[in-house]
Amino acid sequence: MRVLLAGATGVIGRELLPLLRREKHHVTALVRRPDSDLEADAVVAADLLDAPGLTAAVAAAKPEVVVHQVTALRPVSGDTRWEVFERTAHVRRVGTANLVDAARKAGARRIVAQSIAFATTPEGGPLLDENAPLYVDAPDAMWSMTVRAVADLEATVLGAEDIAPIVLRYGSLYGQYTQYDASGAIGQAVRLGRLPLVGDGCGLTSFVQVRDAALAAALAVGHTASGVFNIVDNEPTPAHSWLPGYAELLGAPEPKRIPLELGERLLGWYGAYQQTGQRGADNAKARAELGWRPTVSCWRDGVCEVVR
Ligand SMILES: NC(=O)c1ccc[n+]([C@@H]2O[C@H](COP(=O)([O-])OP(=O)(O)OC[C@H]3O[C@@H](n4cnc5c(N)ncnc54)[C@H](OP(=O)(O)O)[C@@H]3O)[C@@H](O)[C@H]2O)c1
Repeated sequence: MRVLLAGATGVIGRELLPLLRREKHHVTALVRRPDSDLEADAVVAADLLDAPGLTAAVAAAKPEVVVHQVTALRPVSGDTRWEVFERTAHVRRVGTANLVDAARKAGARRIVAQSIAFATTPEGGPLLDENAPLYVDAPDAMWSMTVRAVADLEATVLGAEDIAPIVLRYGSLYGQYTQYDASGAIGQAVRLGRLPLVGDGCGLTSFVQVRDAALAAALAVGHTASGVFNIVDNEPTPAHSWLPGYAELLGAPEPKRIPLELGERLLGWYGAYQQTGQRGADNAKARAELGWRPTVSCWRDGVCEVVR
């Protein structure tokens, strides 16, 4: 099939591109800088925020399937966290609407988009499925802005019923070039003893190895299923387990325990919430309806590979 991959230069895009080509798809990479060193069948250049340029680029690719792996989460130097999240919310909302519109105009018959599995309201659980409400009213301005943009992204994609939409909600990505890479933001903080364990540490994180996330997207391209799917590993893990375990694998000092109030001050609301209140995500639907299975069942096995 002819596939257009938006976000081809990203953490997931770089894993996904060769997987799609191995499946004999003809892959056009949509990039912002045409000099990217990608081994794609074709390259087109456009910014998701430039609707006319994007429409022309997508039309030139003549895609049957459009894959959306764009976020603006990678900080540009000098950015505050608020700026990074605000820019990402804008791309999720406006960029996604532009991409869906361009896909439809180009005659695509399927769209695969990435979302996140940890945006659910922390009620019930410990594991939440795809029907759990999103935390749009989270008590933190940055997180509620993020979740509202995620909700808009999903509504925009799923509203394109004529082009068989599928939304993959990834868990916390780890692996090469992610923030849990030994040299990534979280890896560095743990190595330097700067990521403390907050409160009871009972908040759950559902991880997914970046390659498993890409495998899910490759599977979704050729599948007929529509709707929302959690793409997470089999072992959601409380912070009091993964954080000291990760520190040990890195040969880092054991994380200090601090109370919740101090955690919120040091790590921000989300950093403390992830460790104390966040629920895990259930991957049963992806297993049953997509036939996807994580090749790495538990974060510990996968993280071992990136810290070696
Ligand atoms: N994805 C998630 O849900 C998530 C969640 C939490 C943390 N993280 C962390 O964030 C880091 C980044 O991961 P990521 O895979 O999400 O992002 P990424 O690796 O930065 O990839 C984002 C992709 O989107 C493209 N892009 C950004 N803005 C665009 C625009 N306006 N128009 C067209 N393309 C645009 C980028 O292209 P350029 O090469 O042109 O910039 C890049 O190809 C990792 O460390 C990851 O662990 C990710």
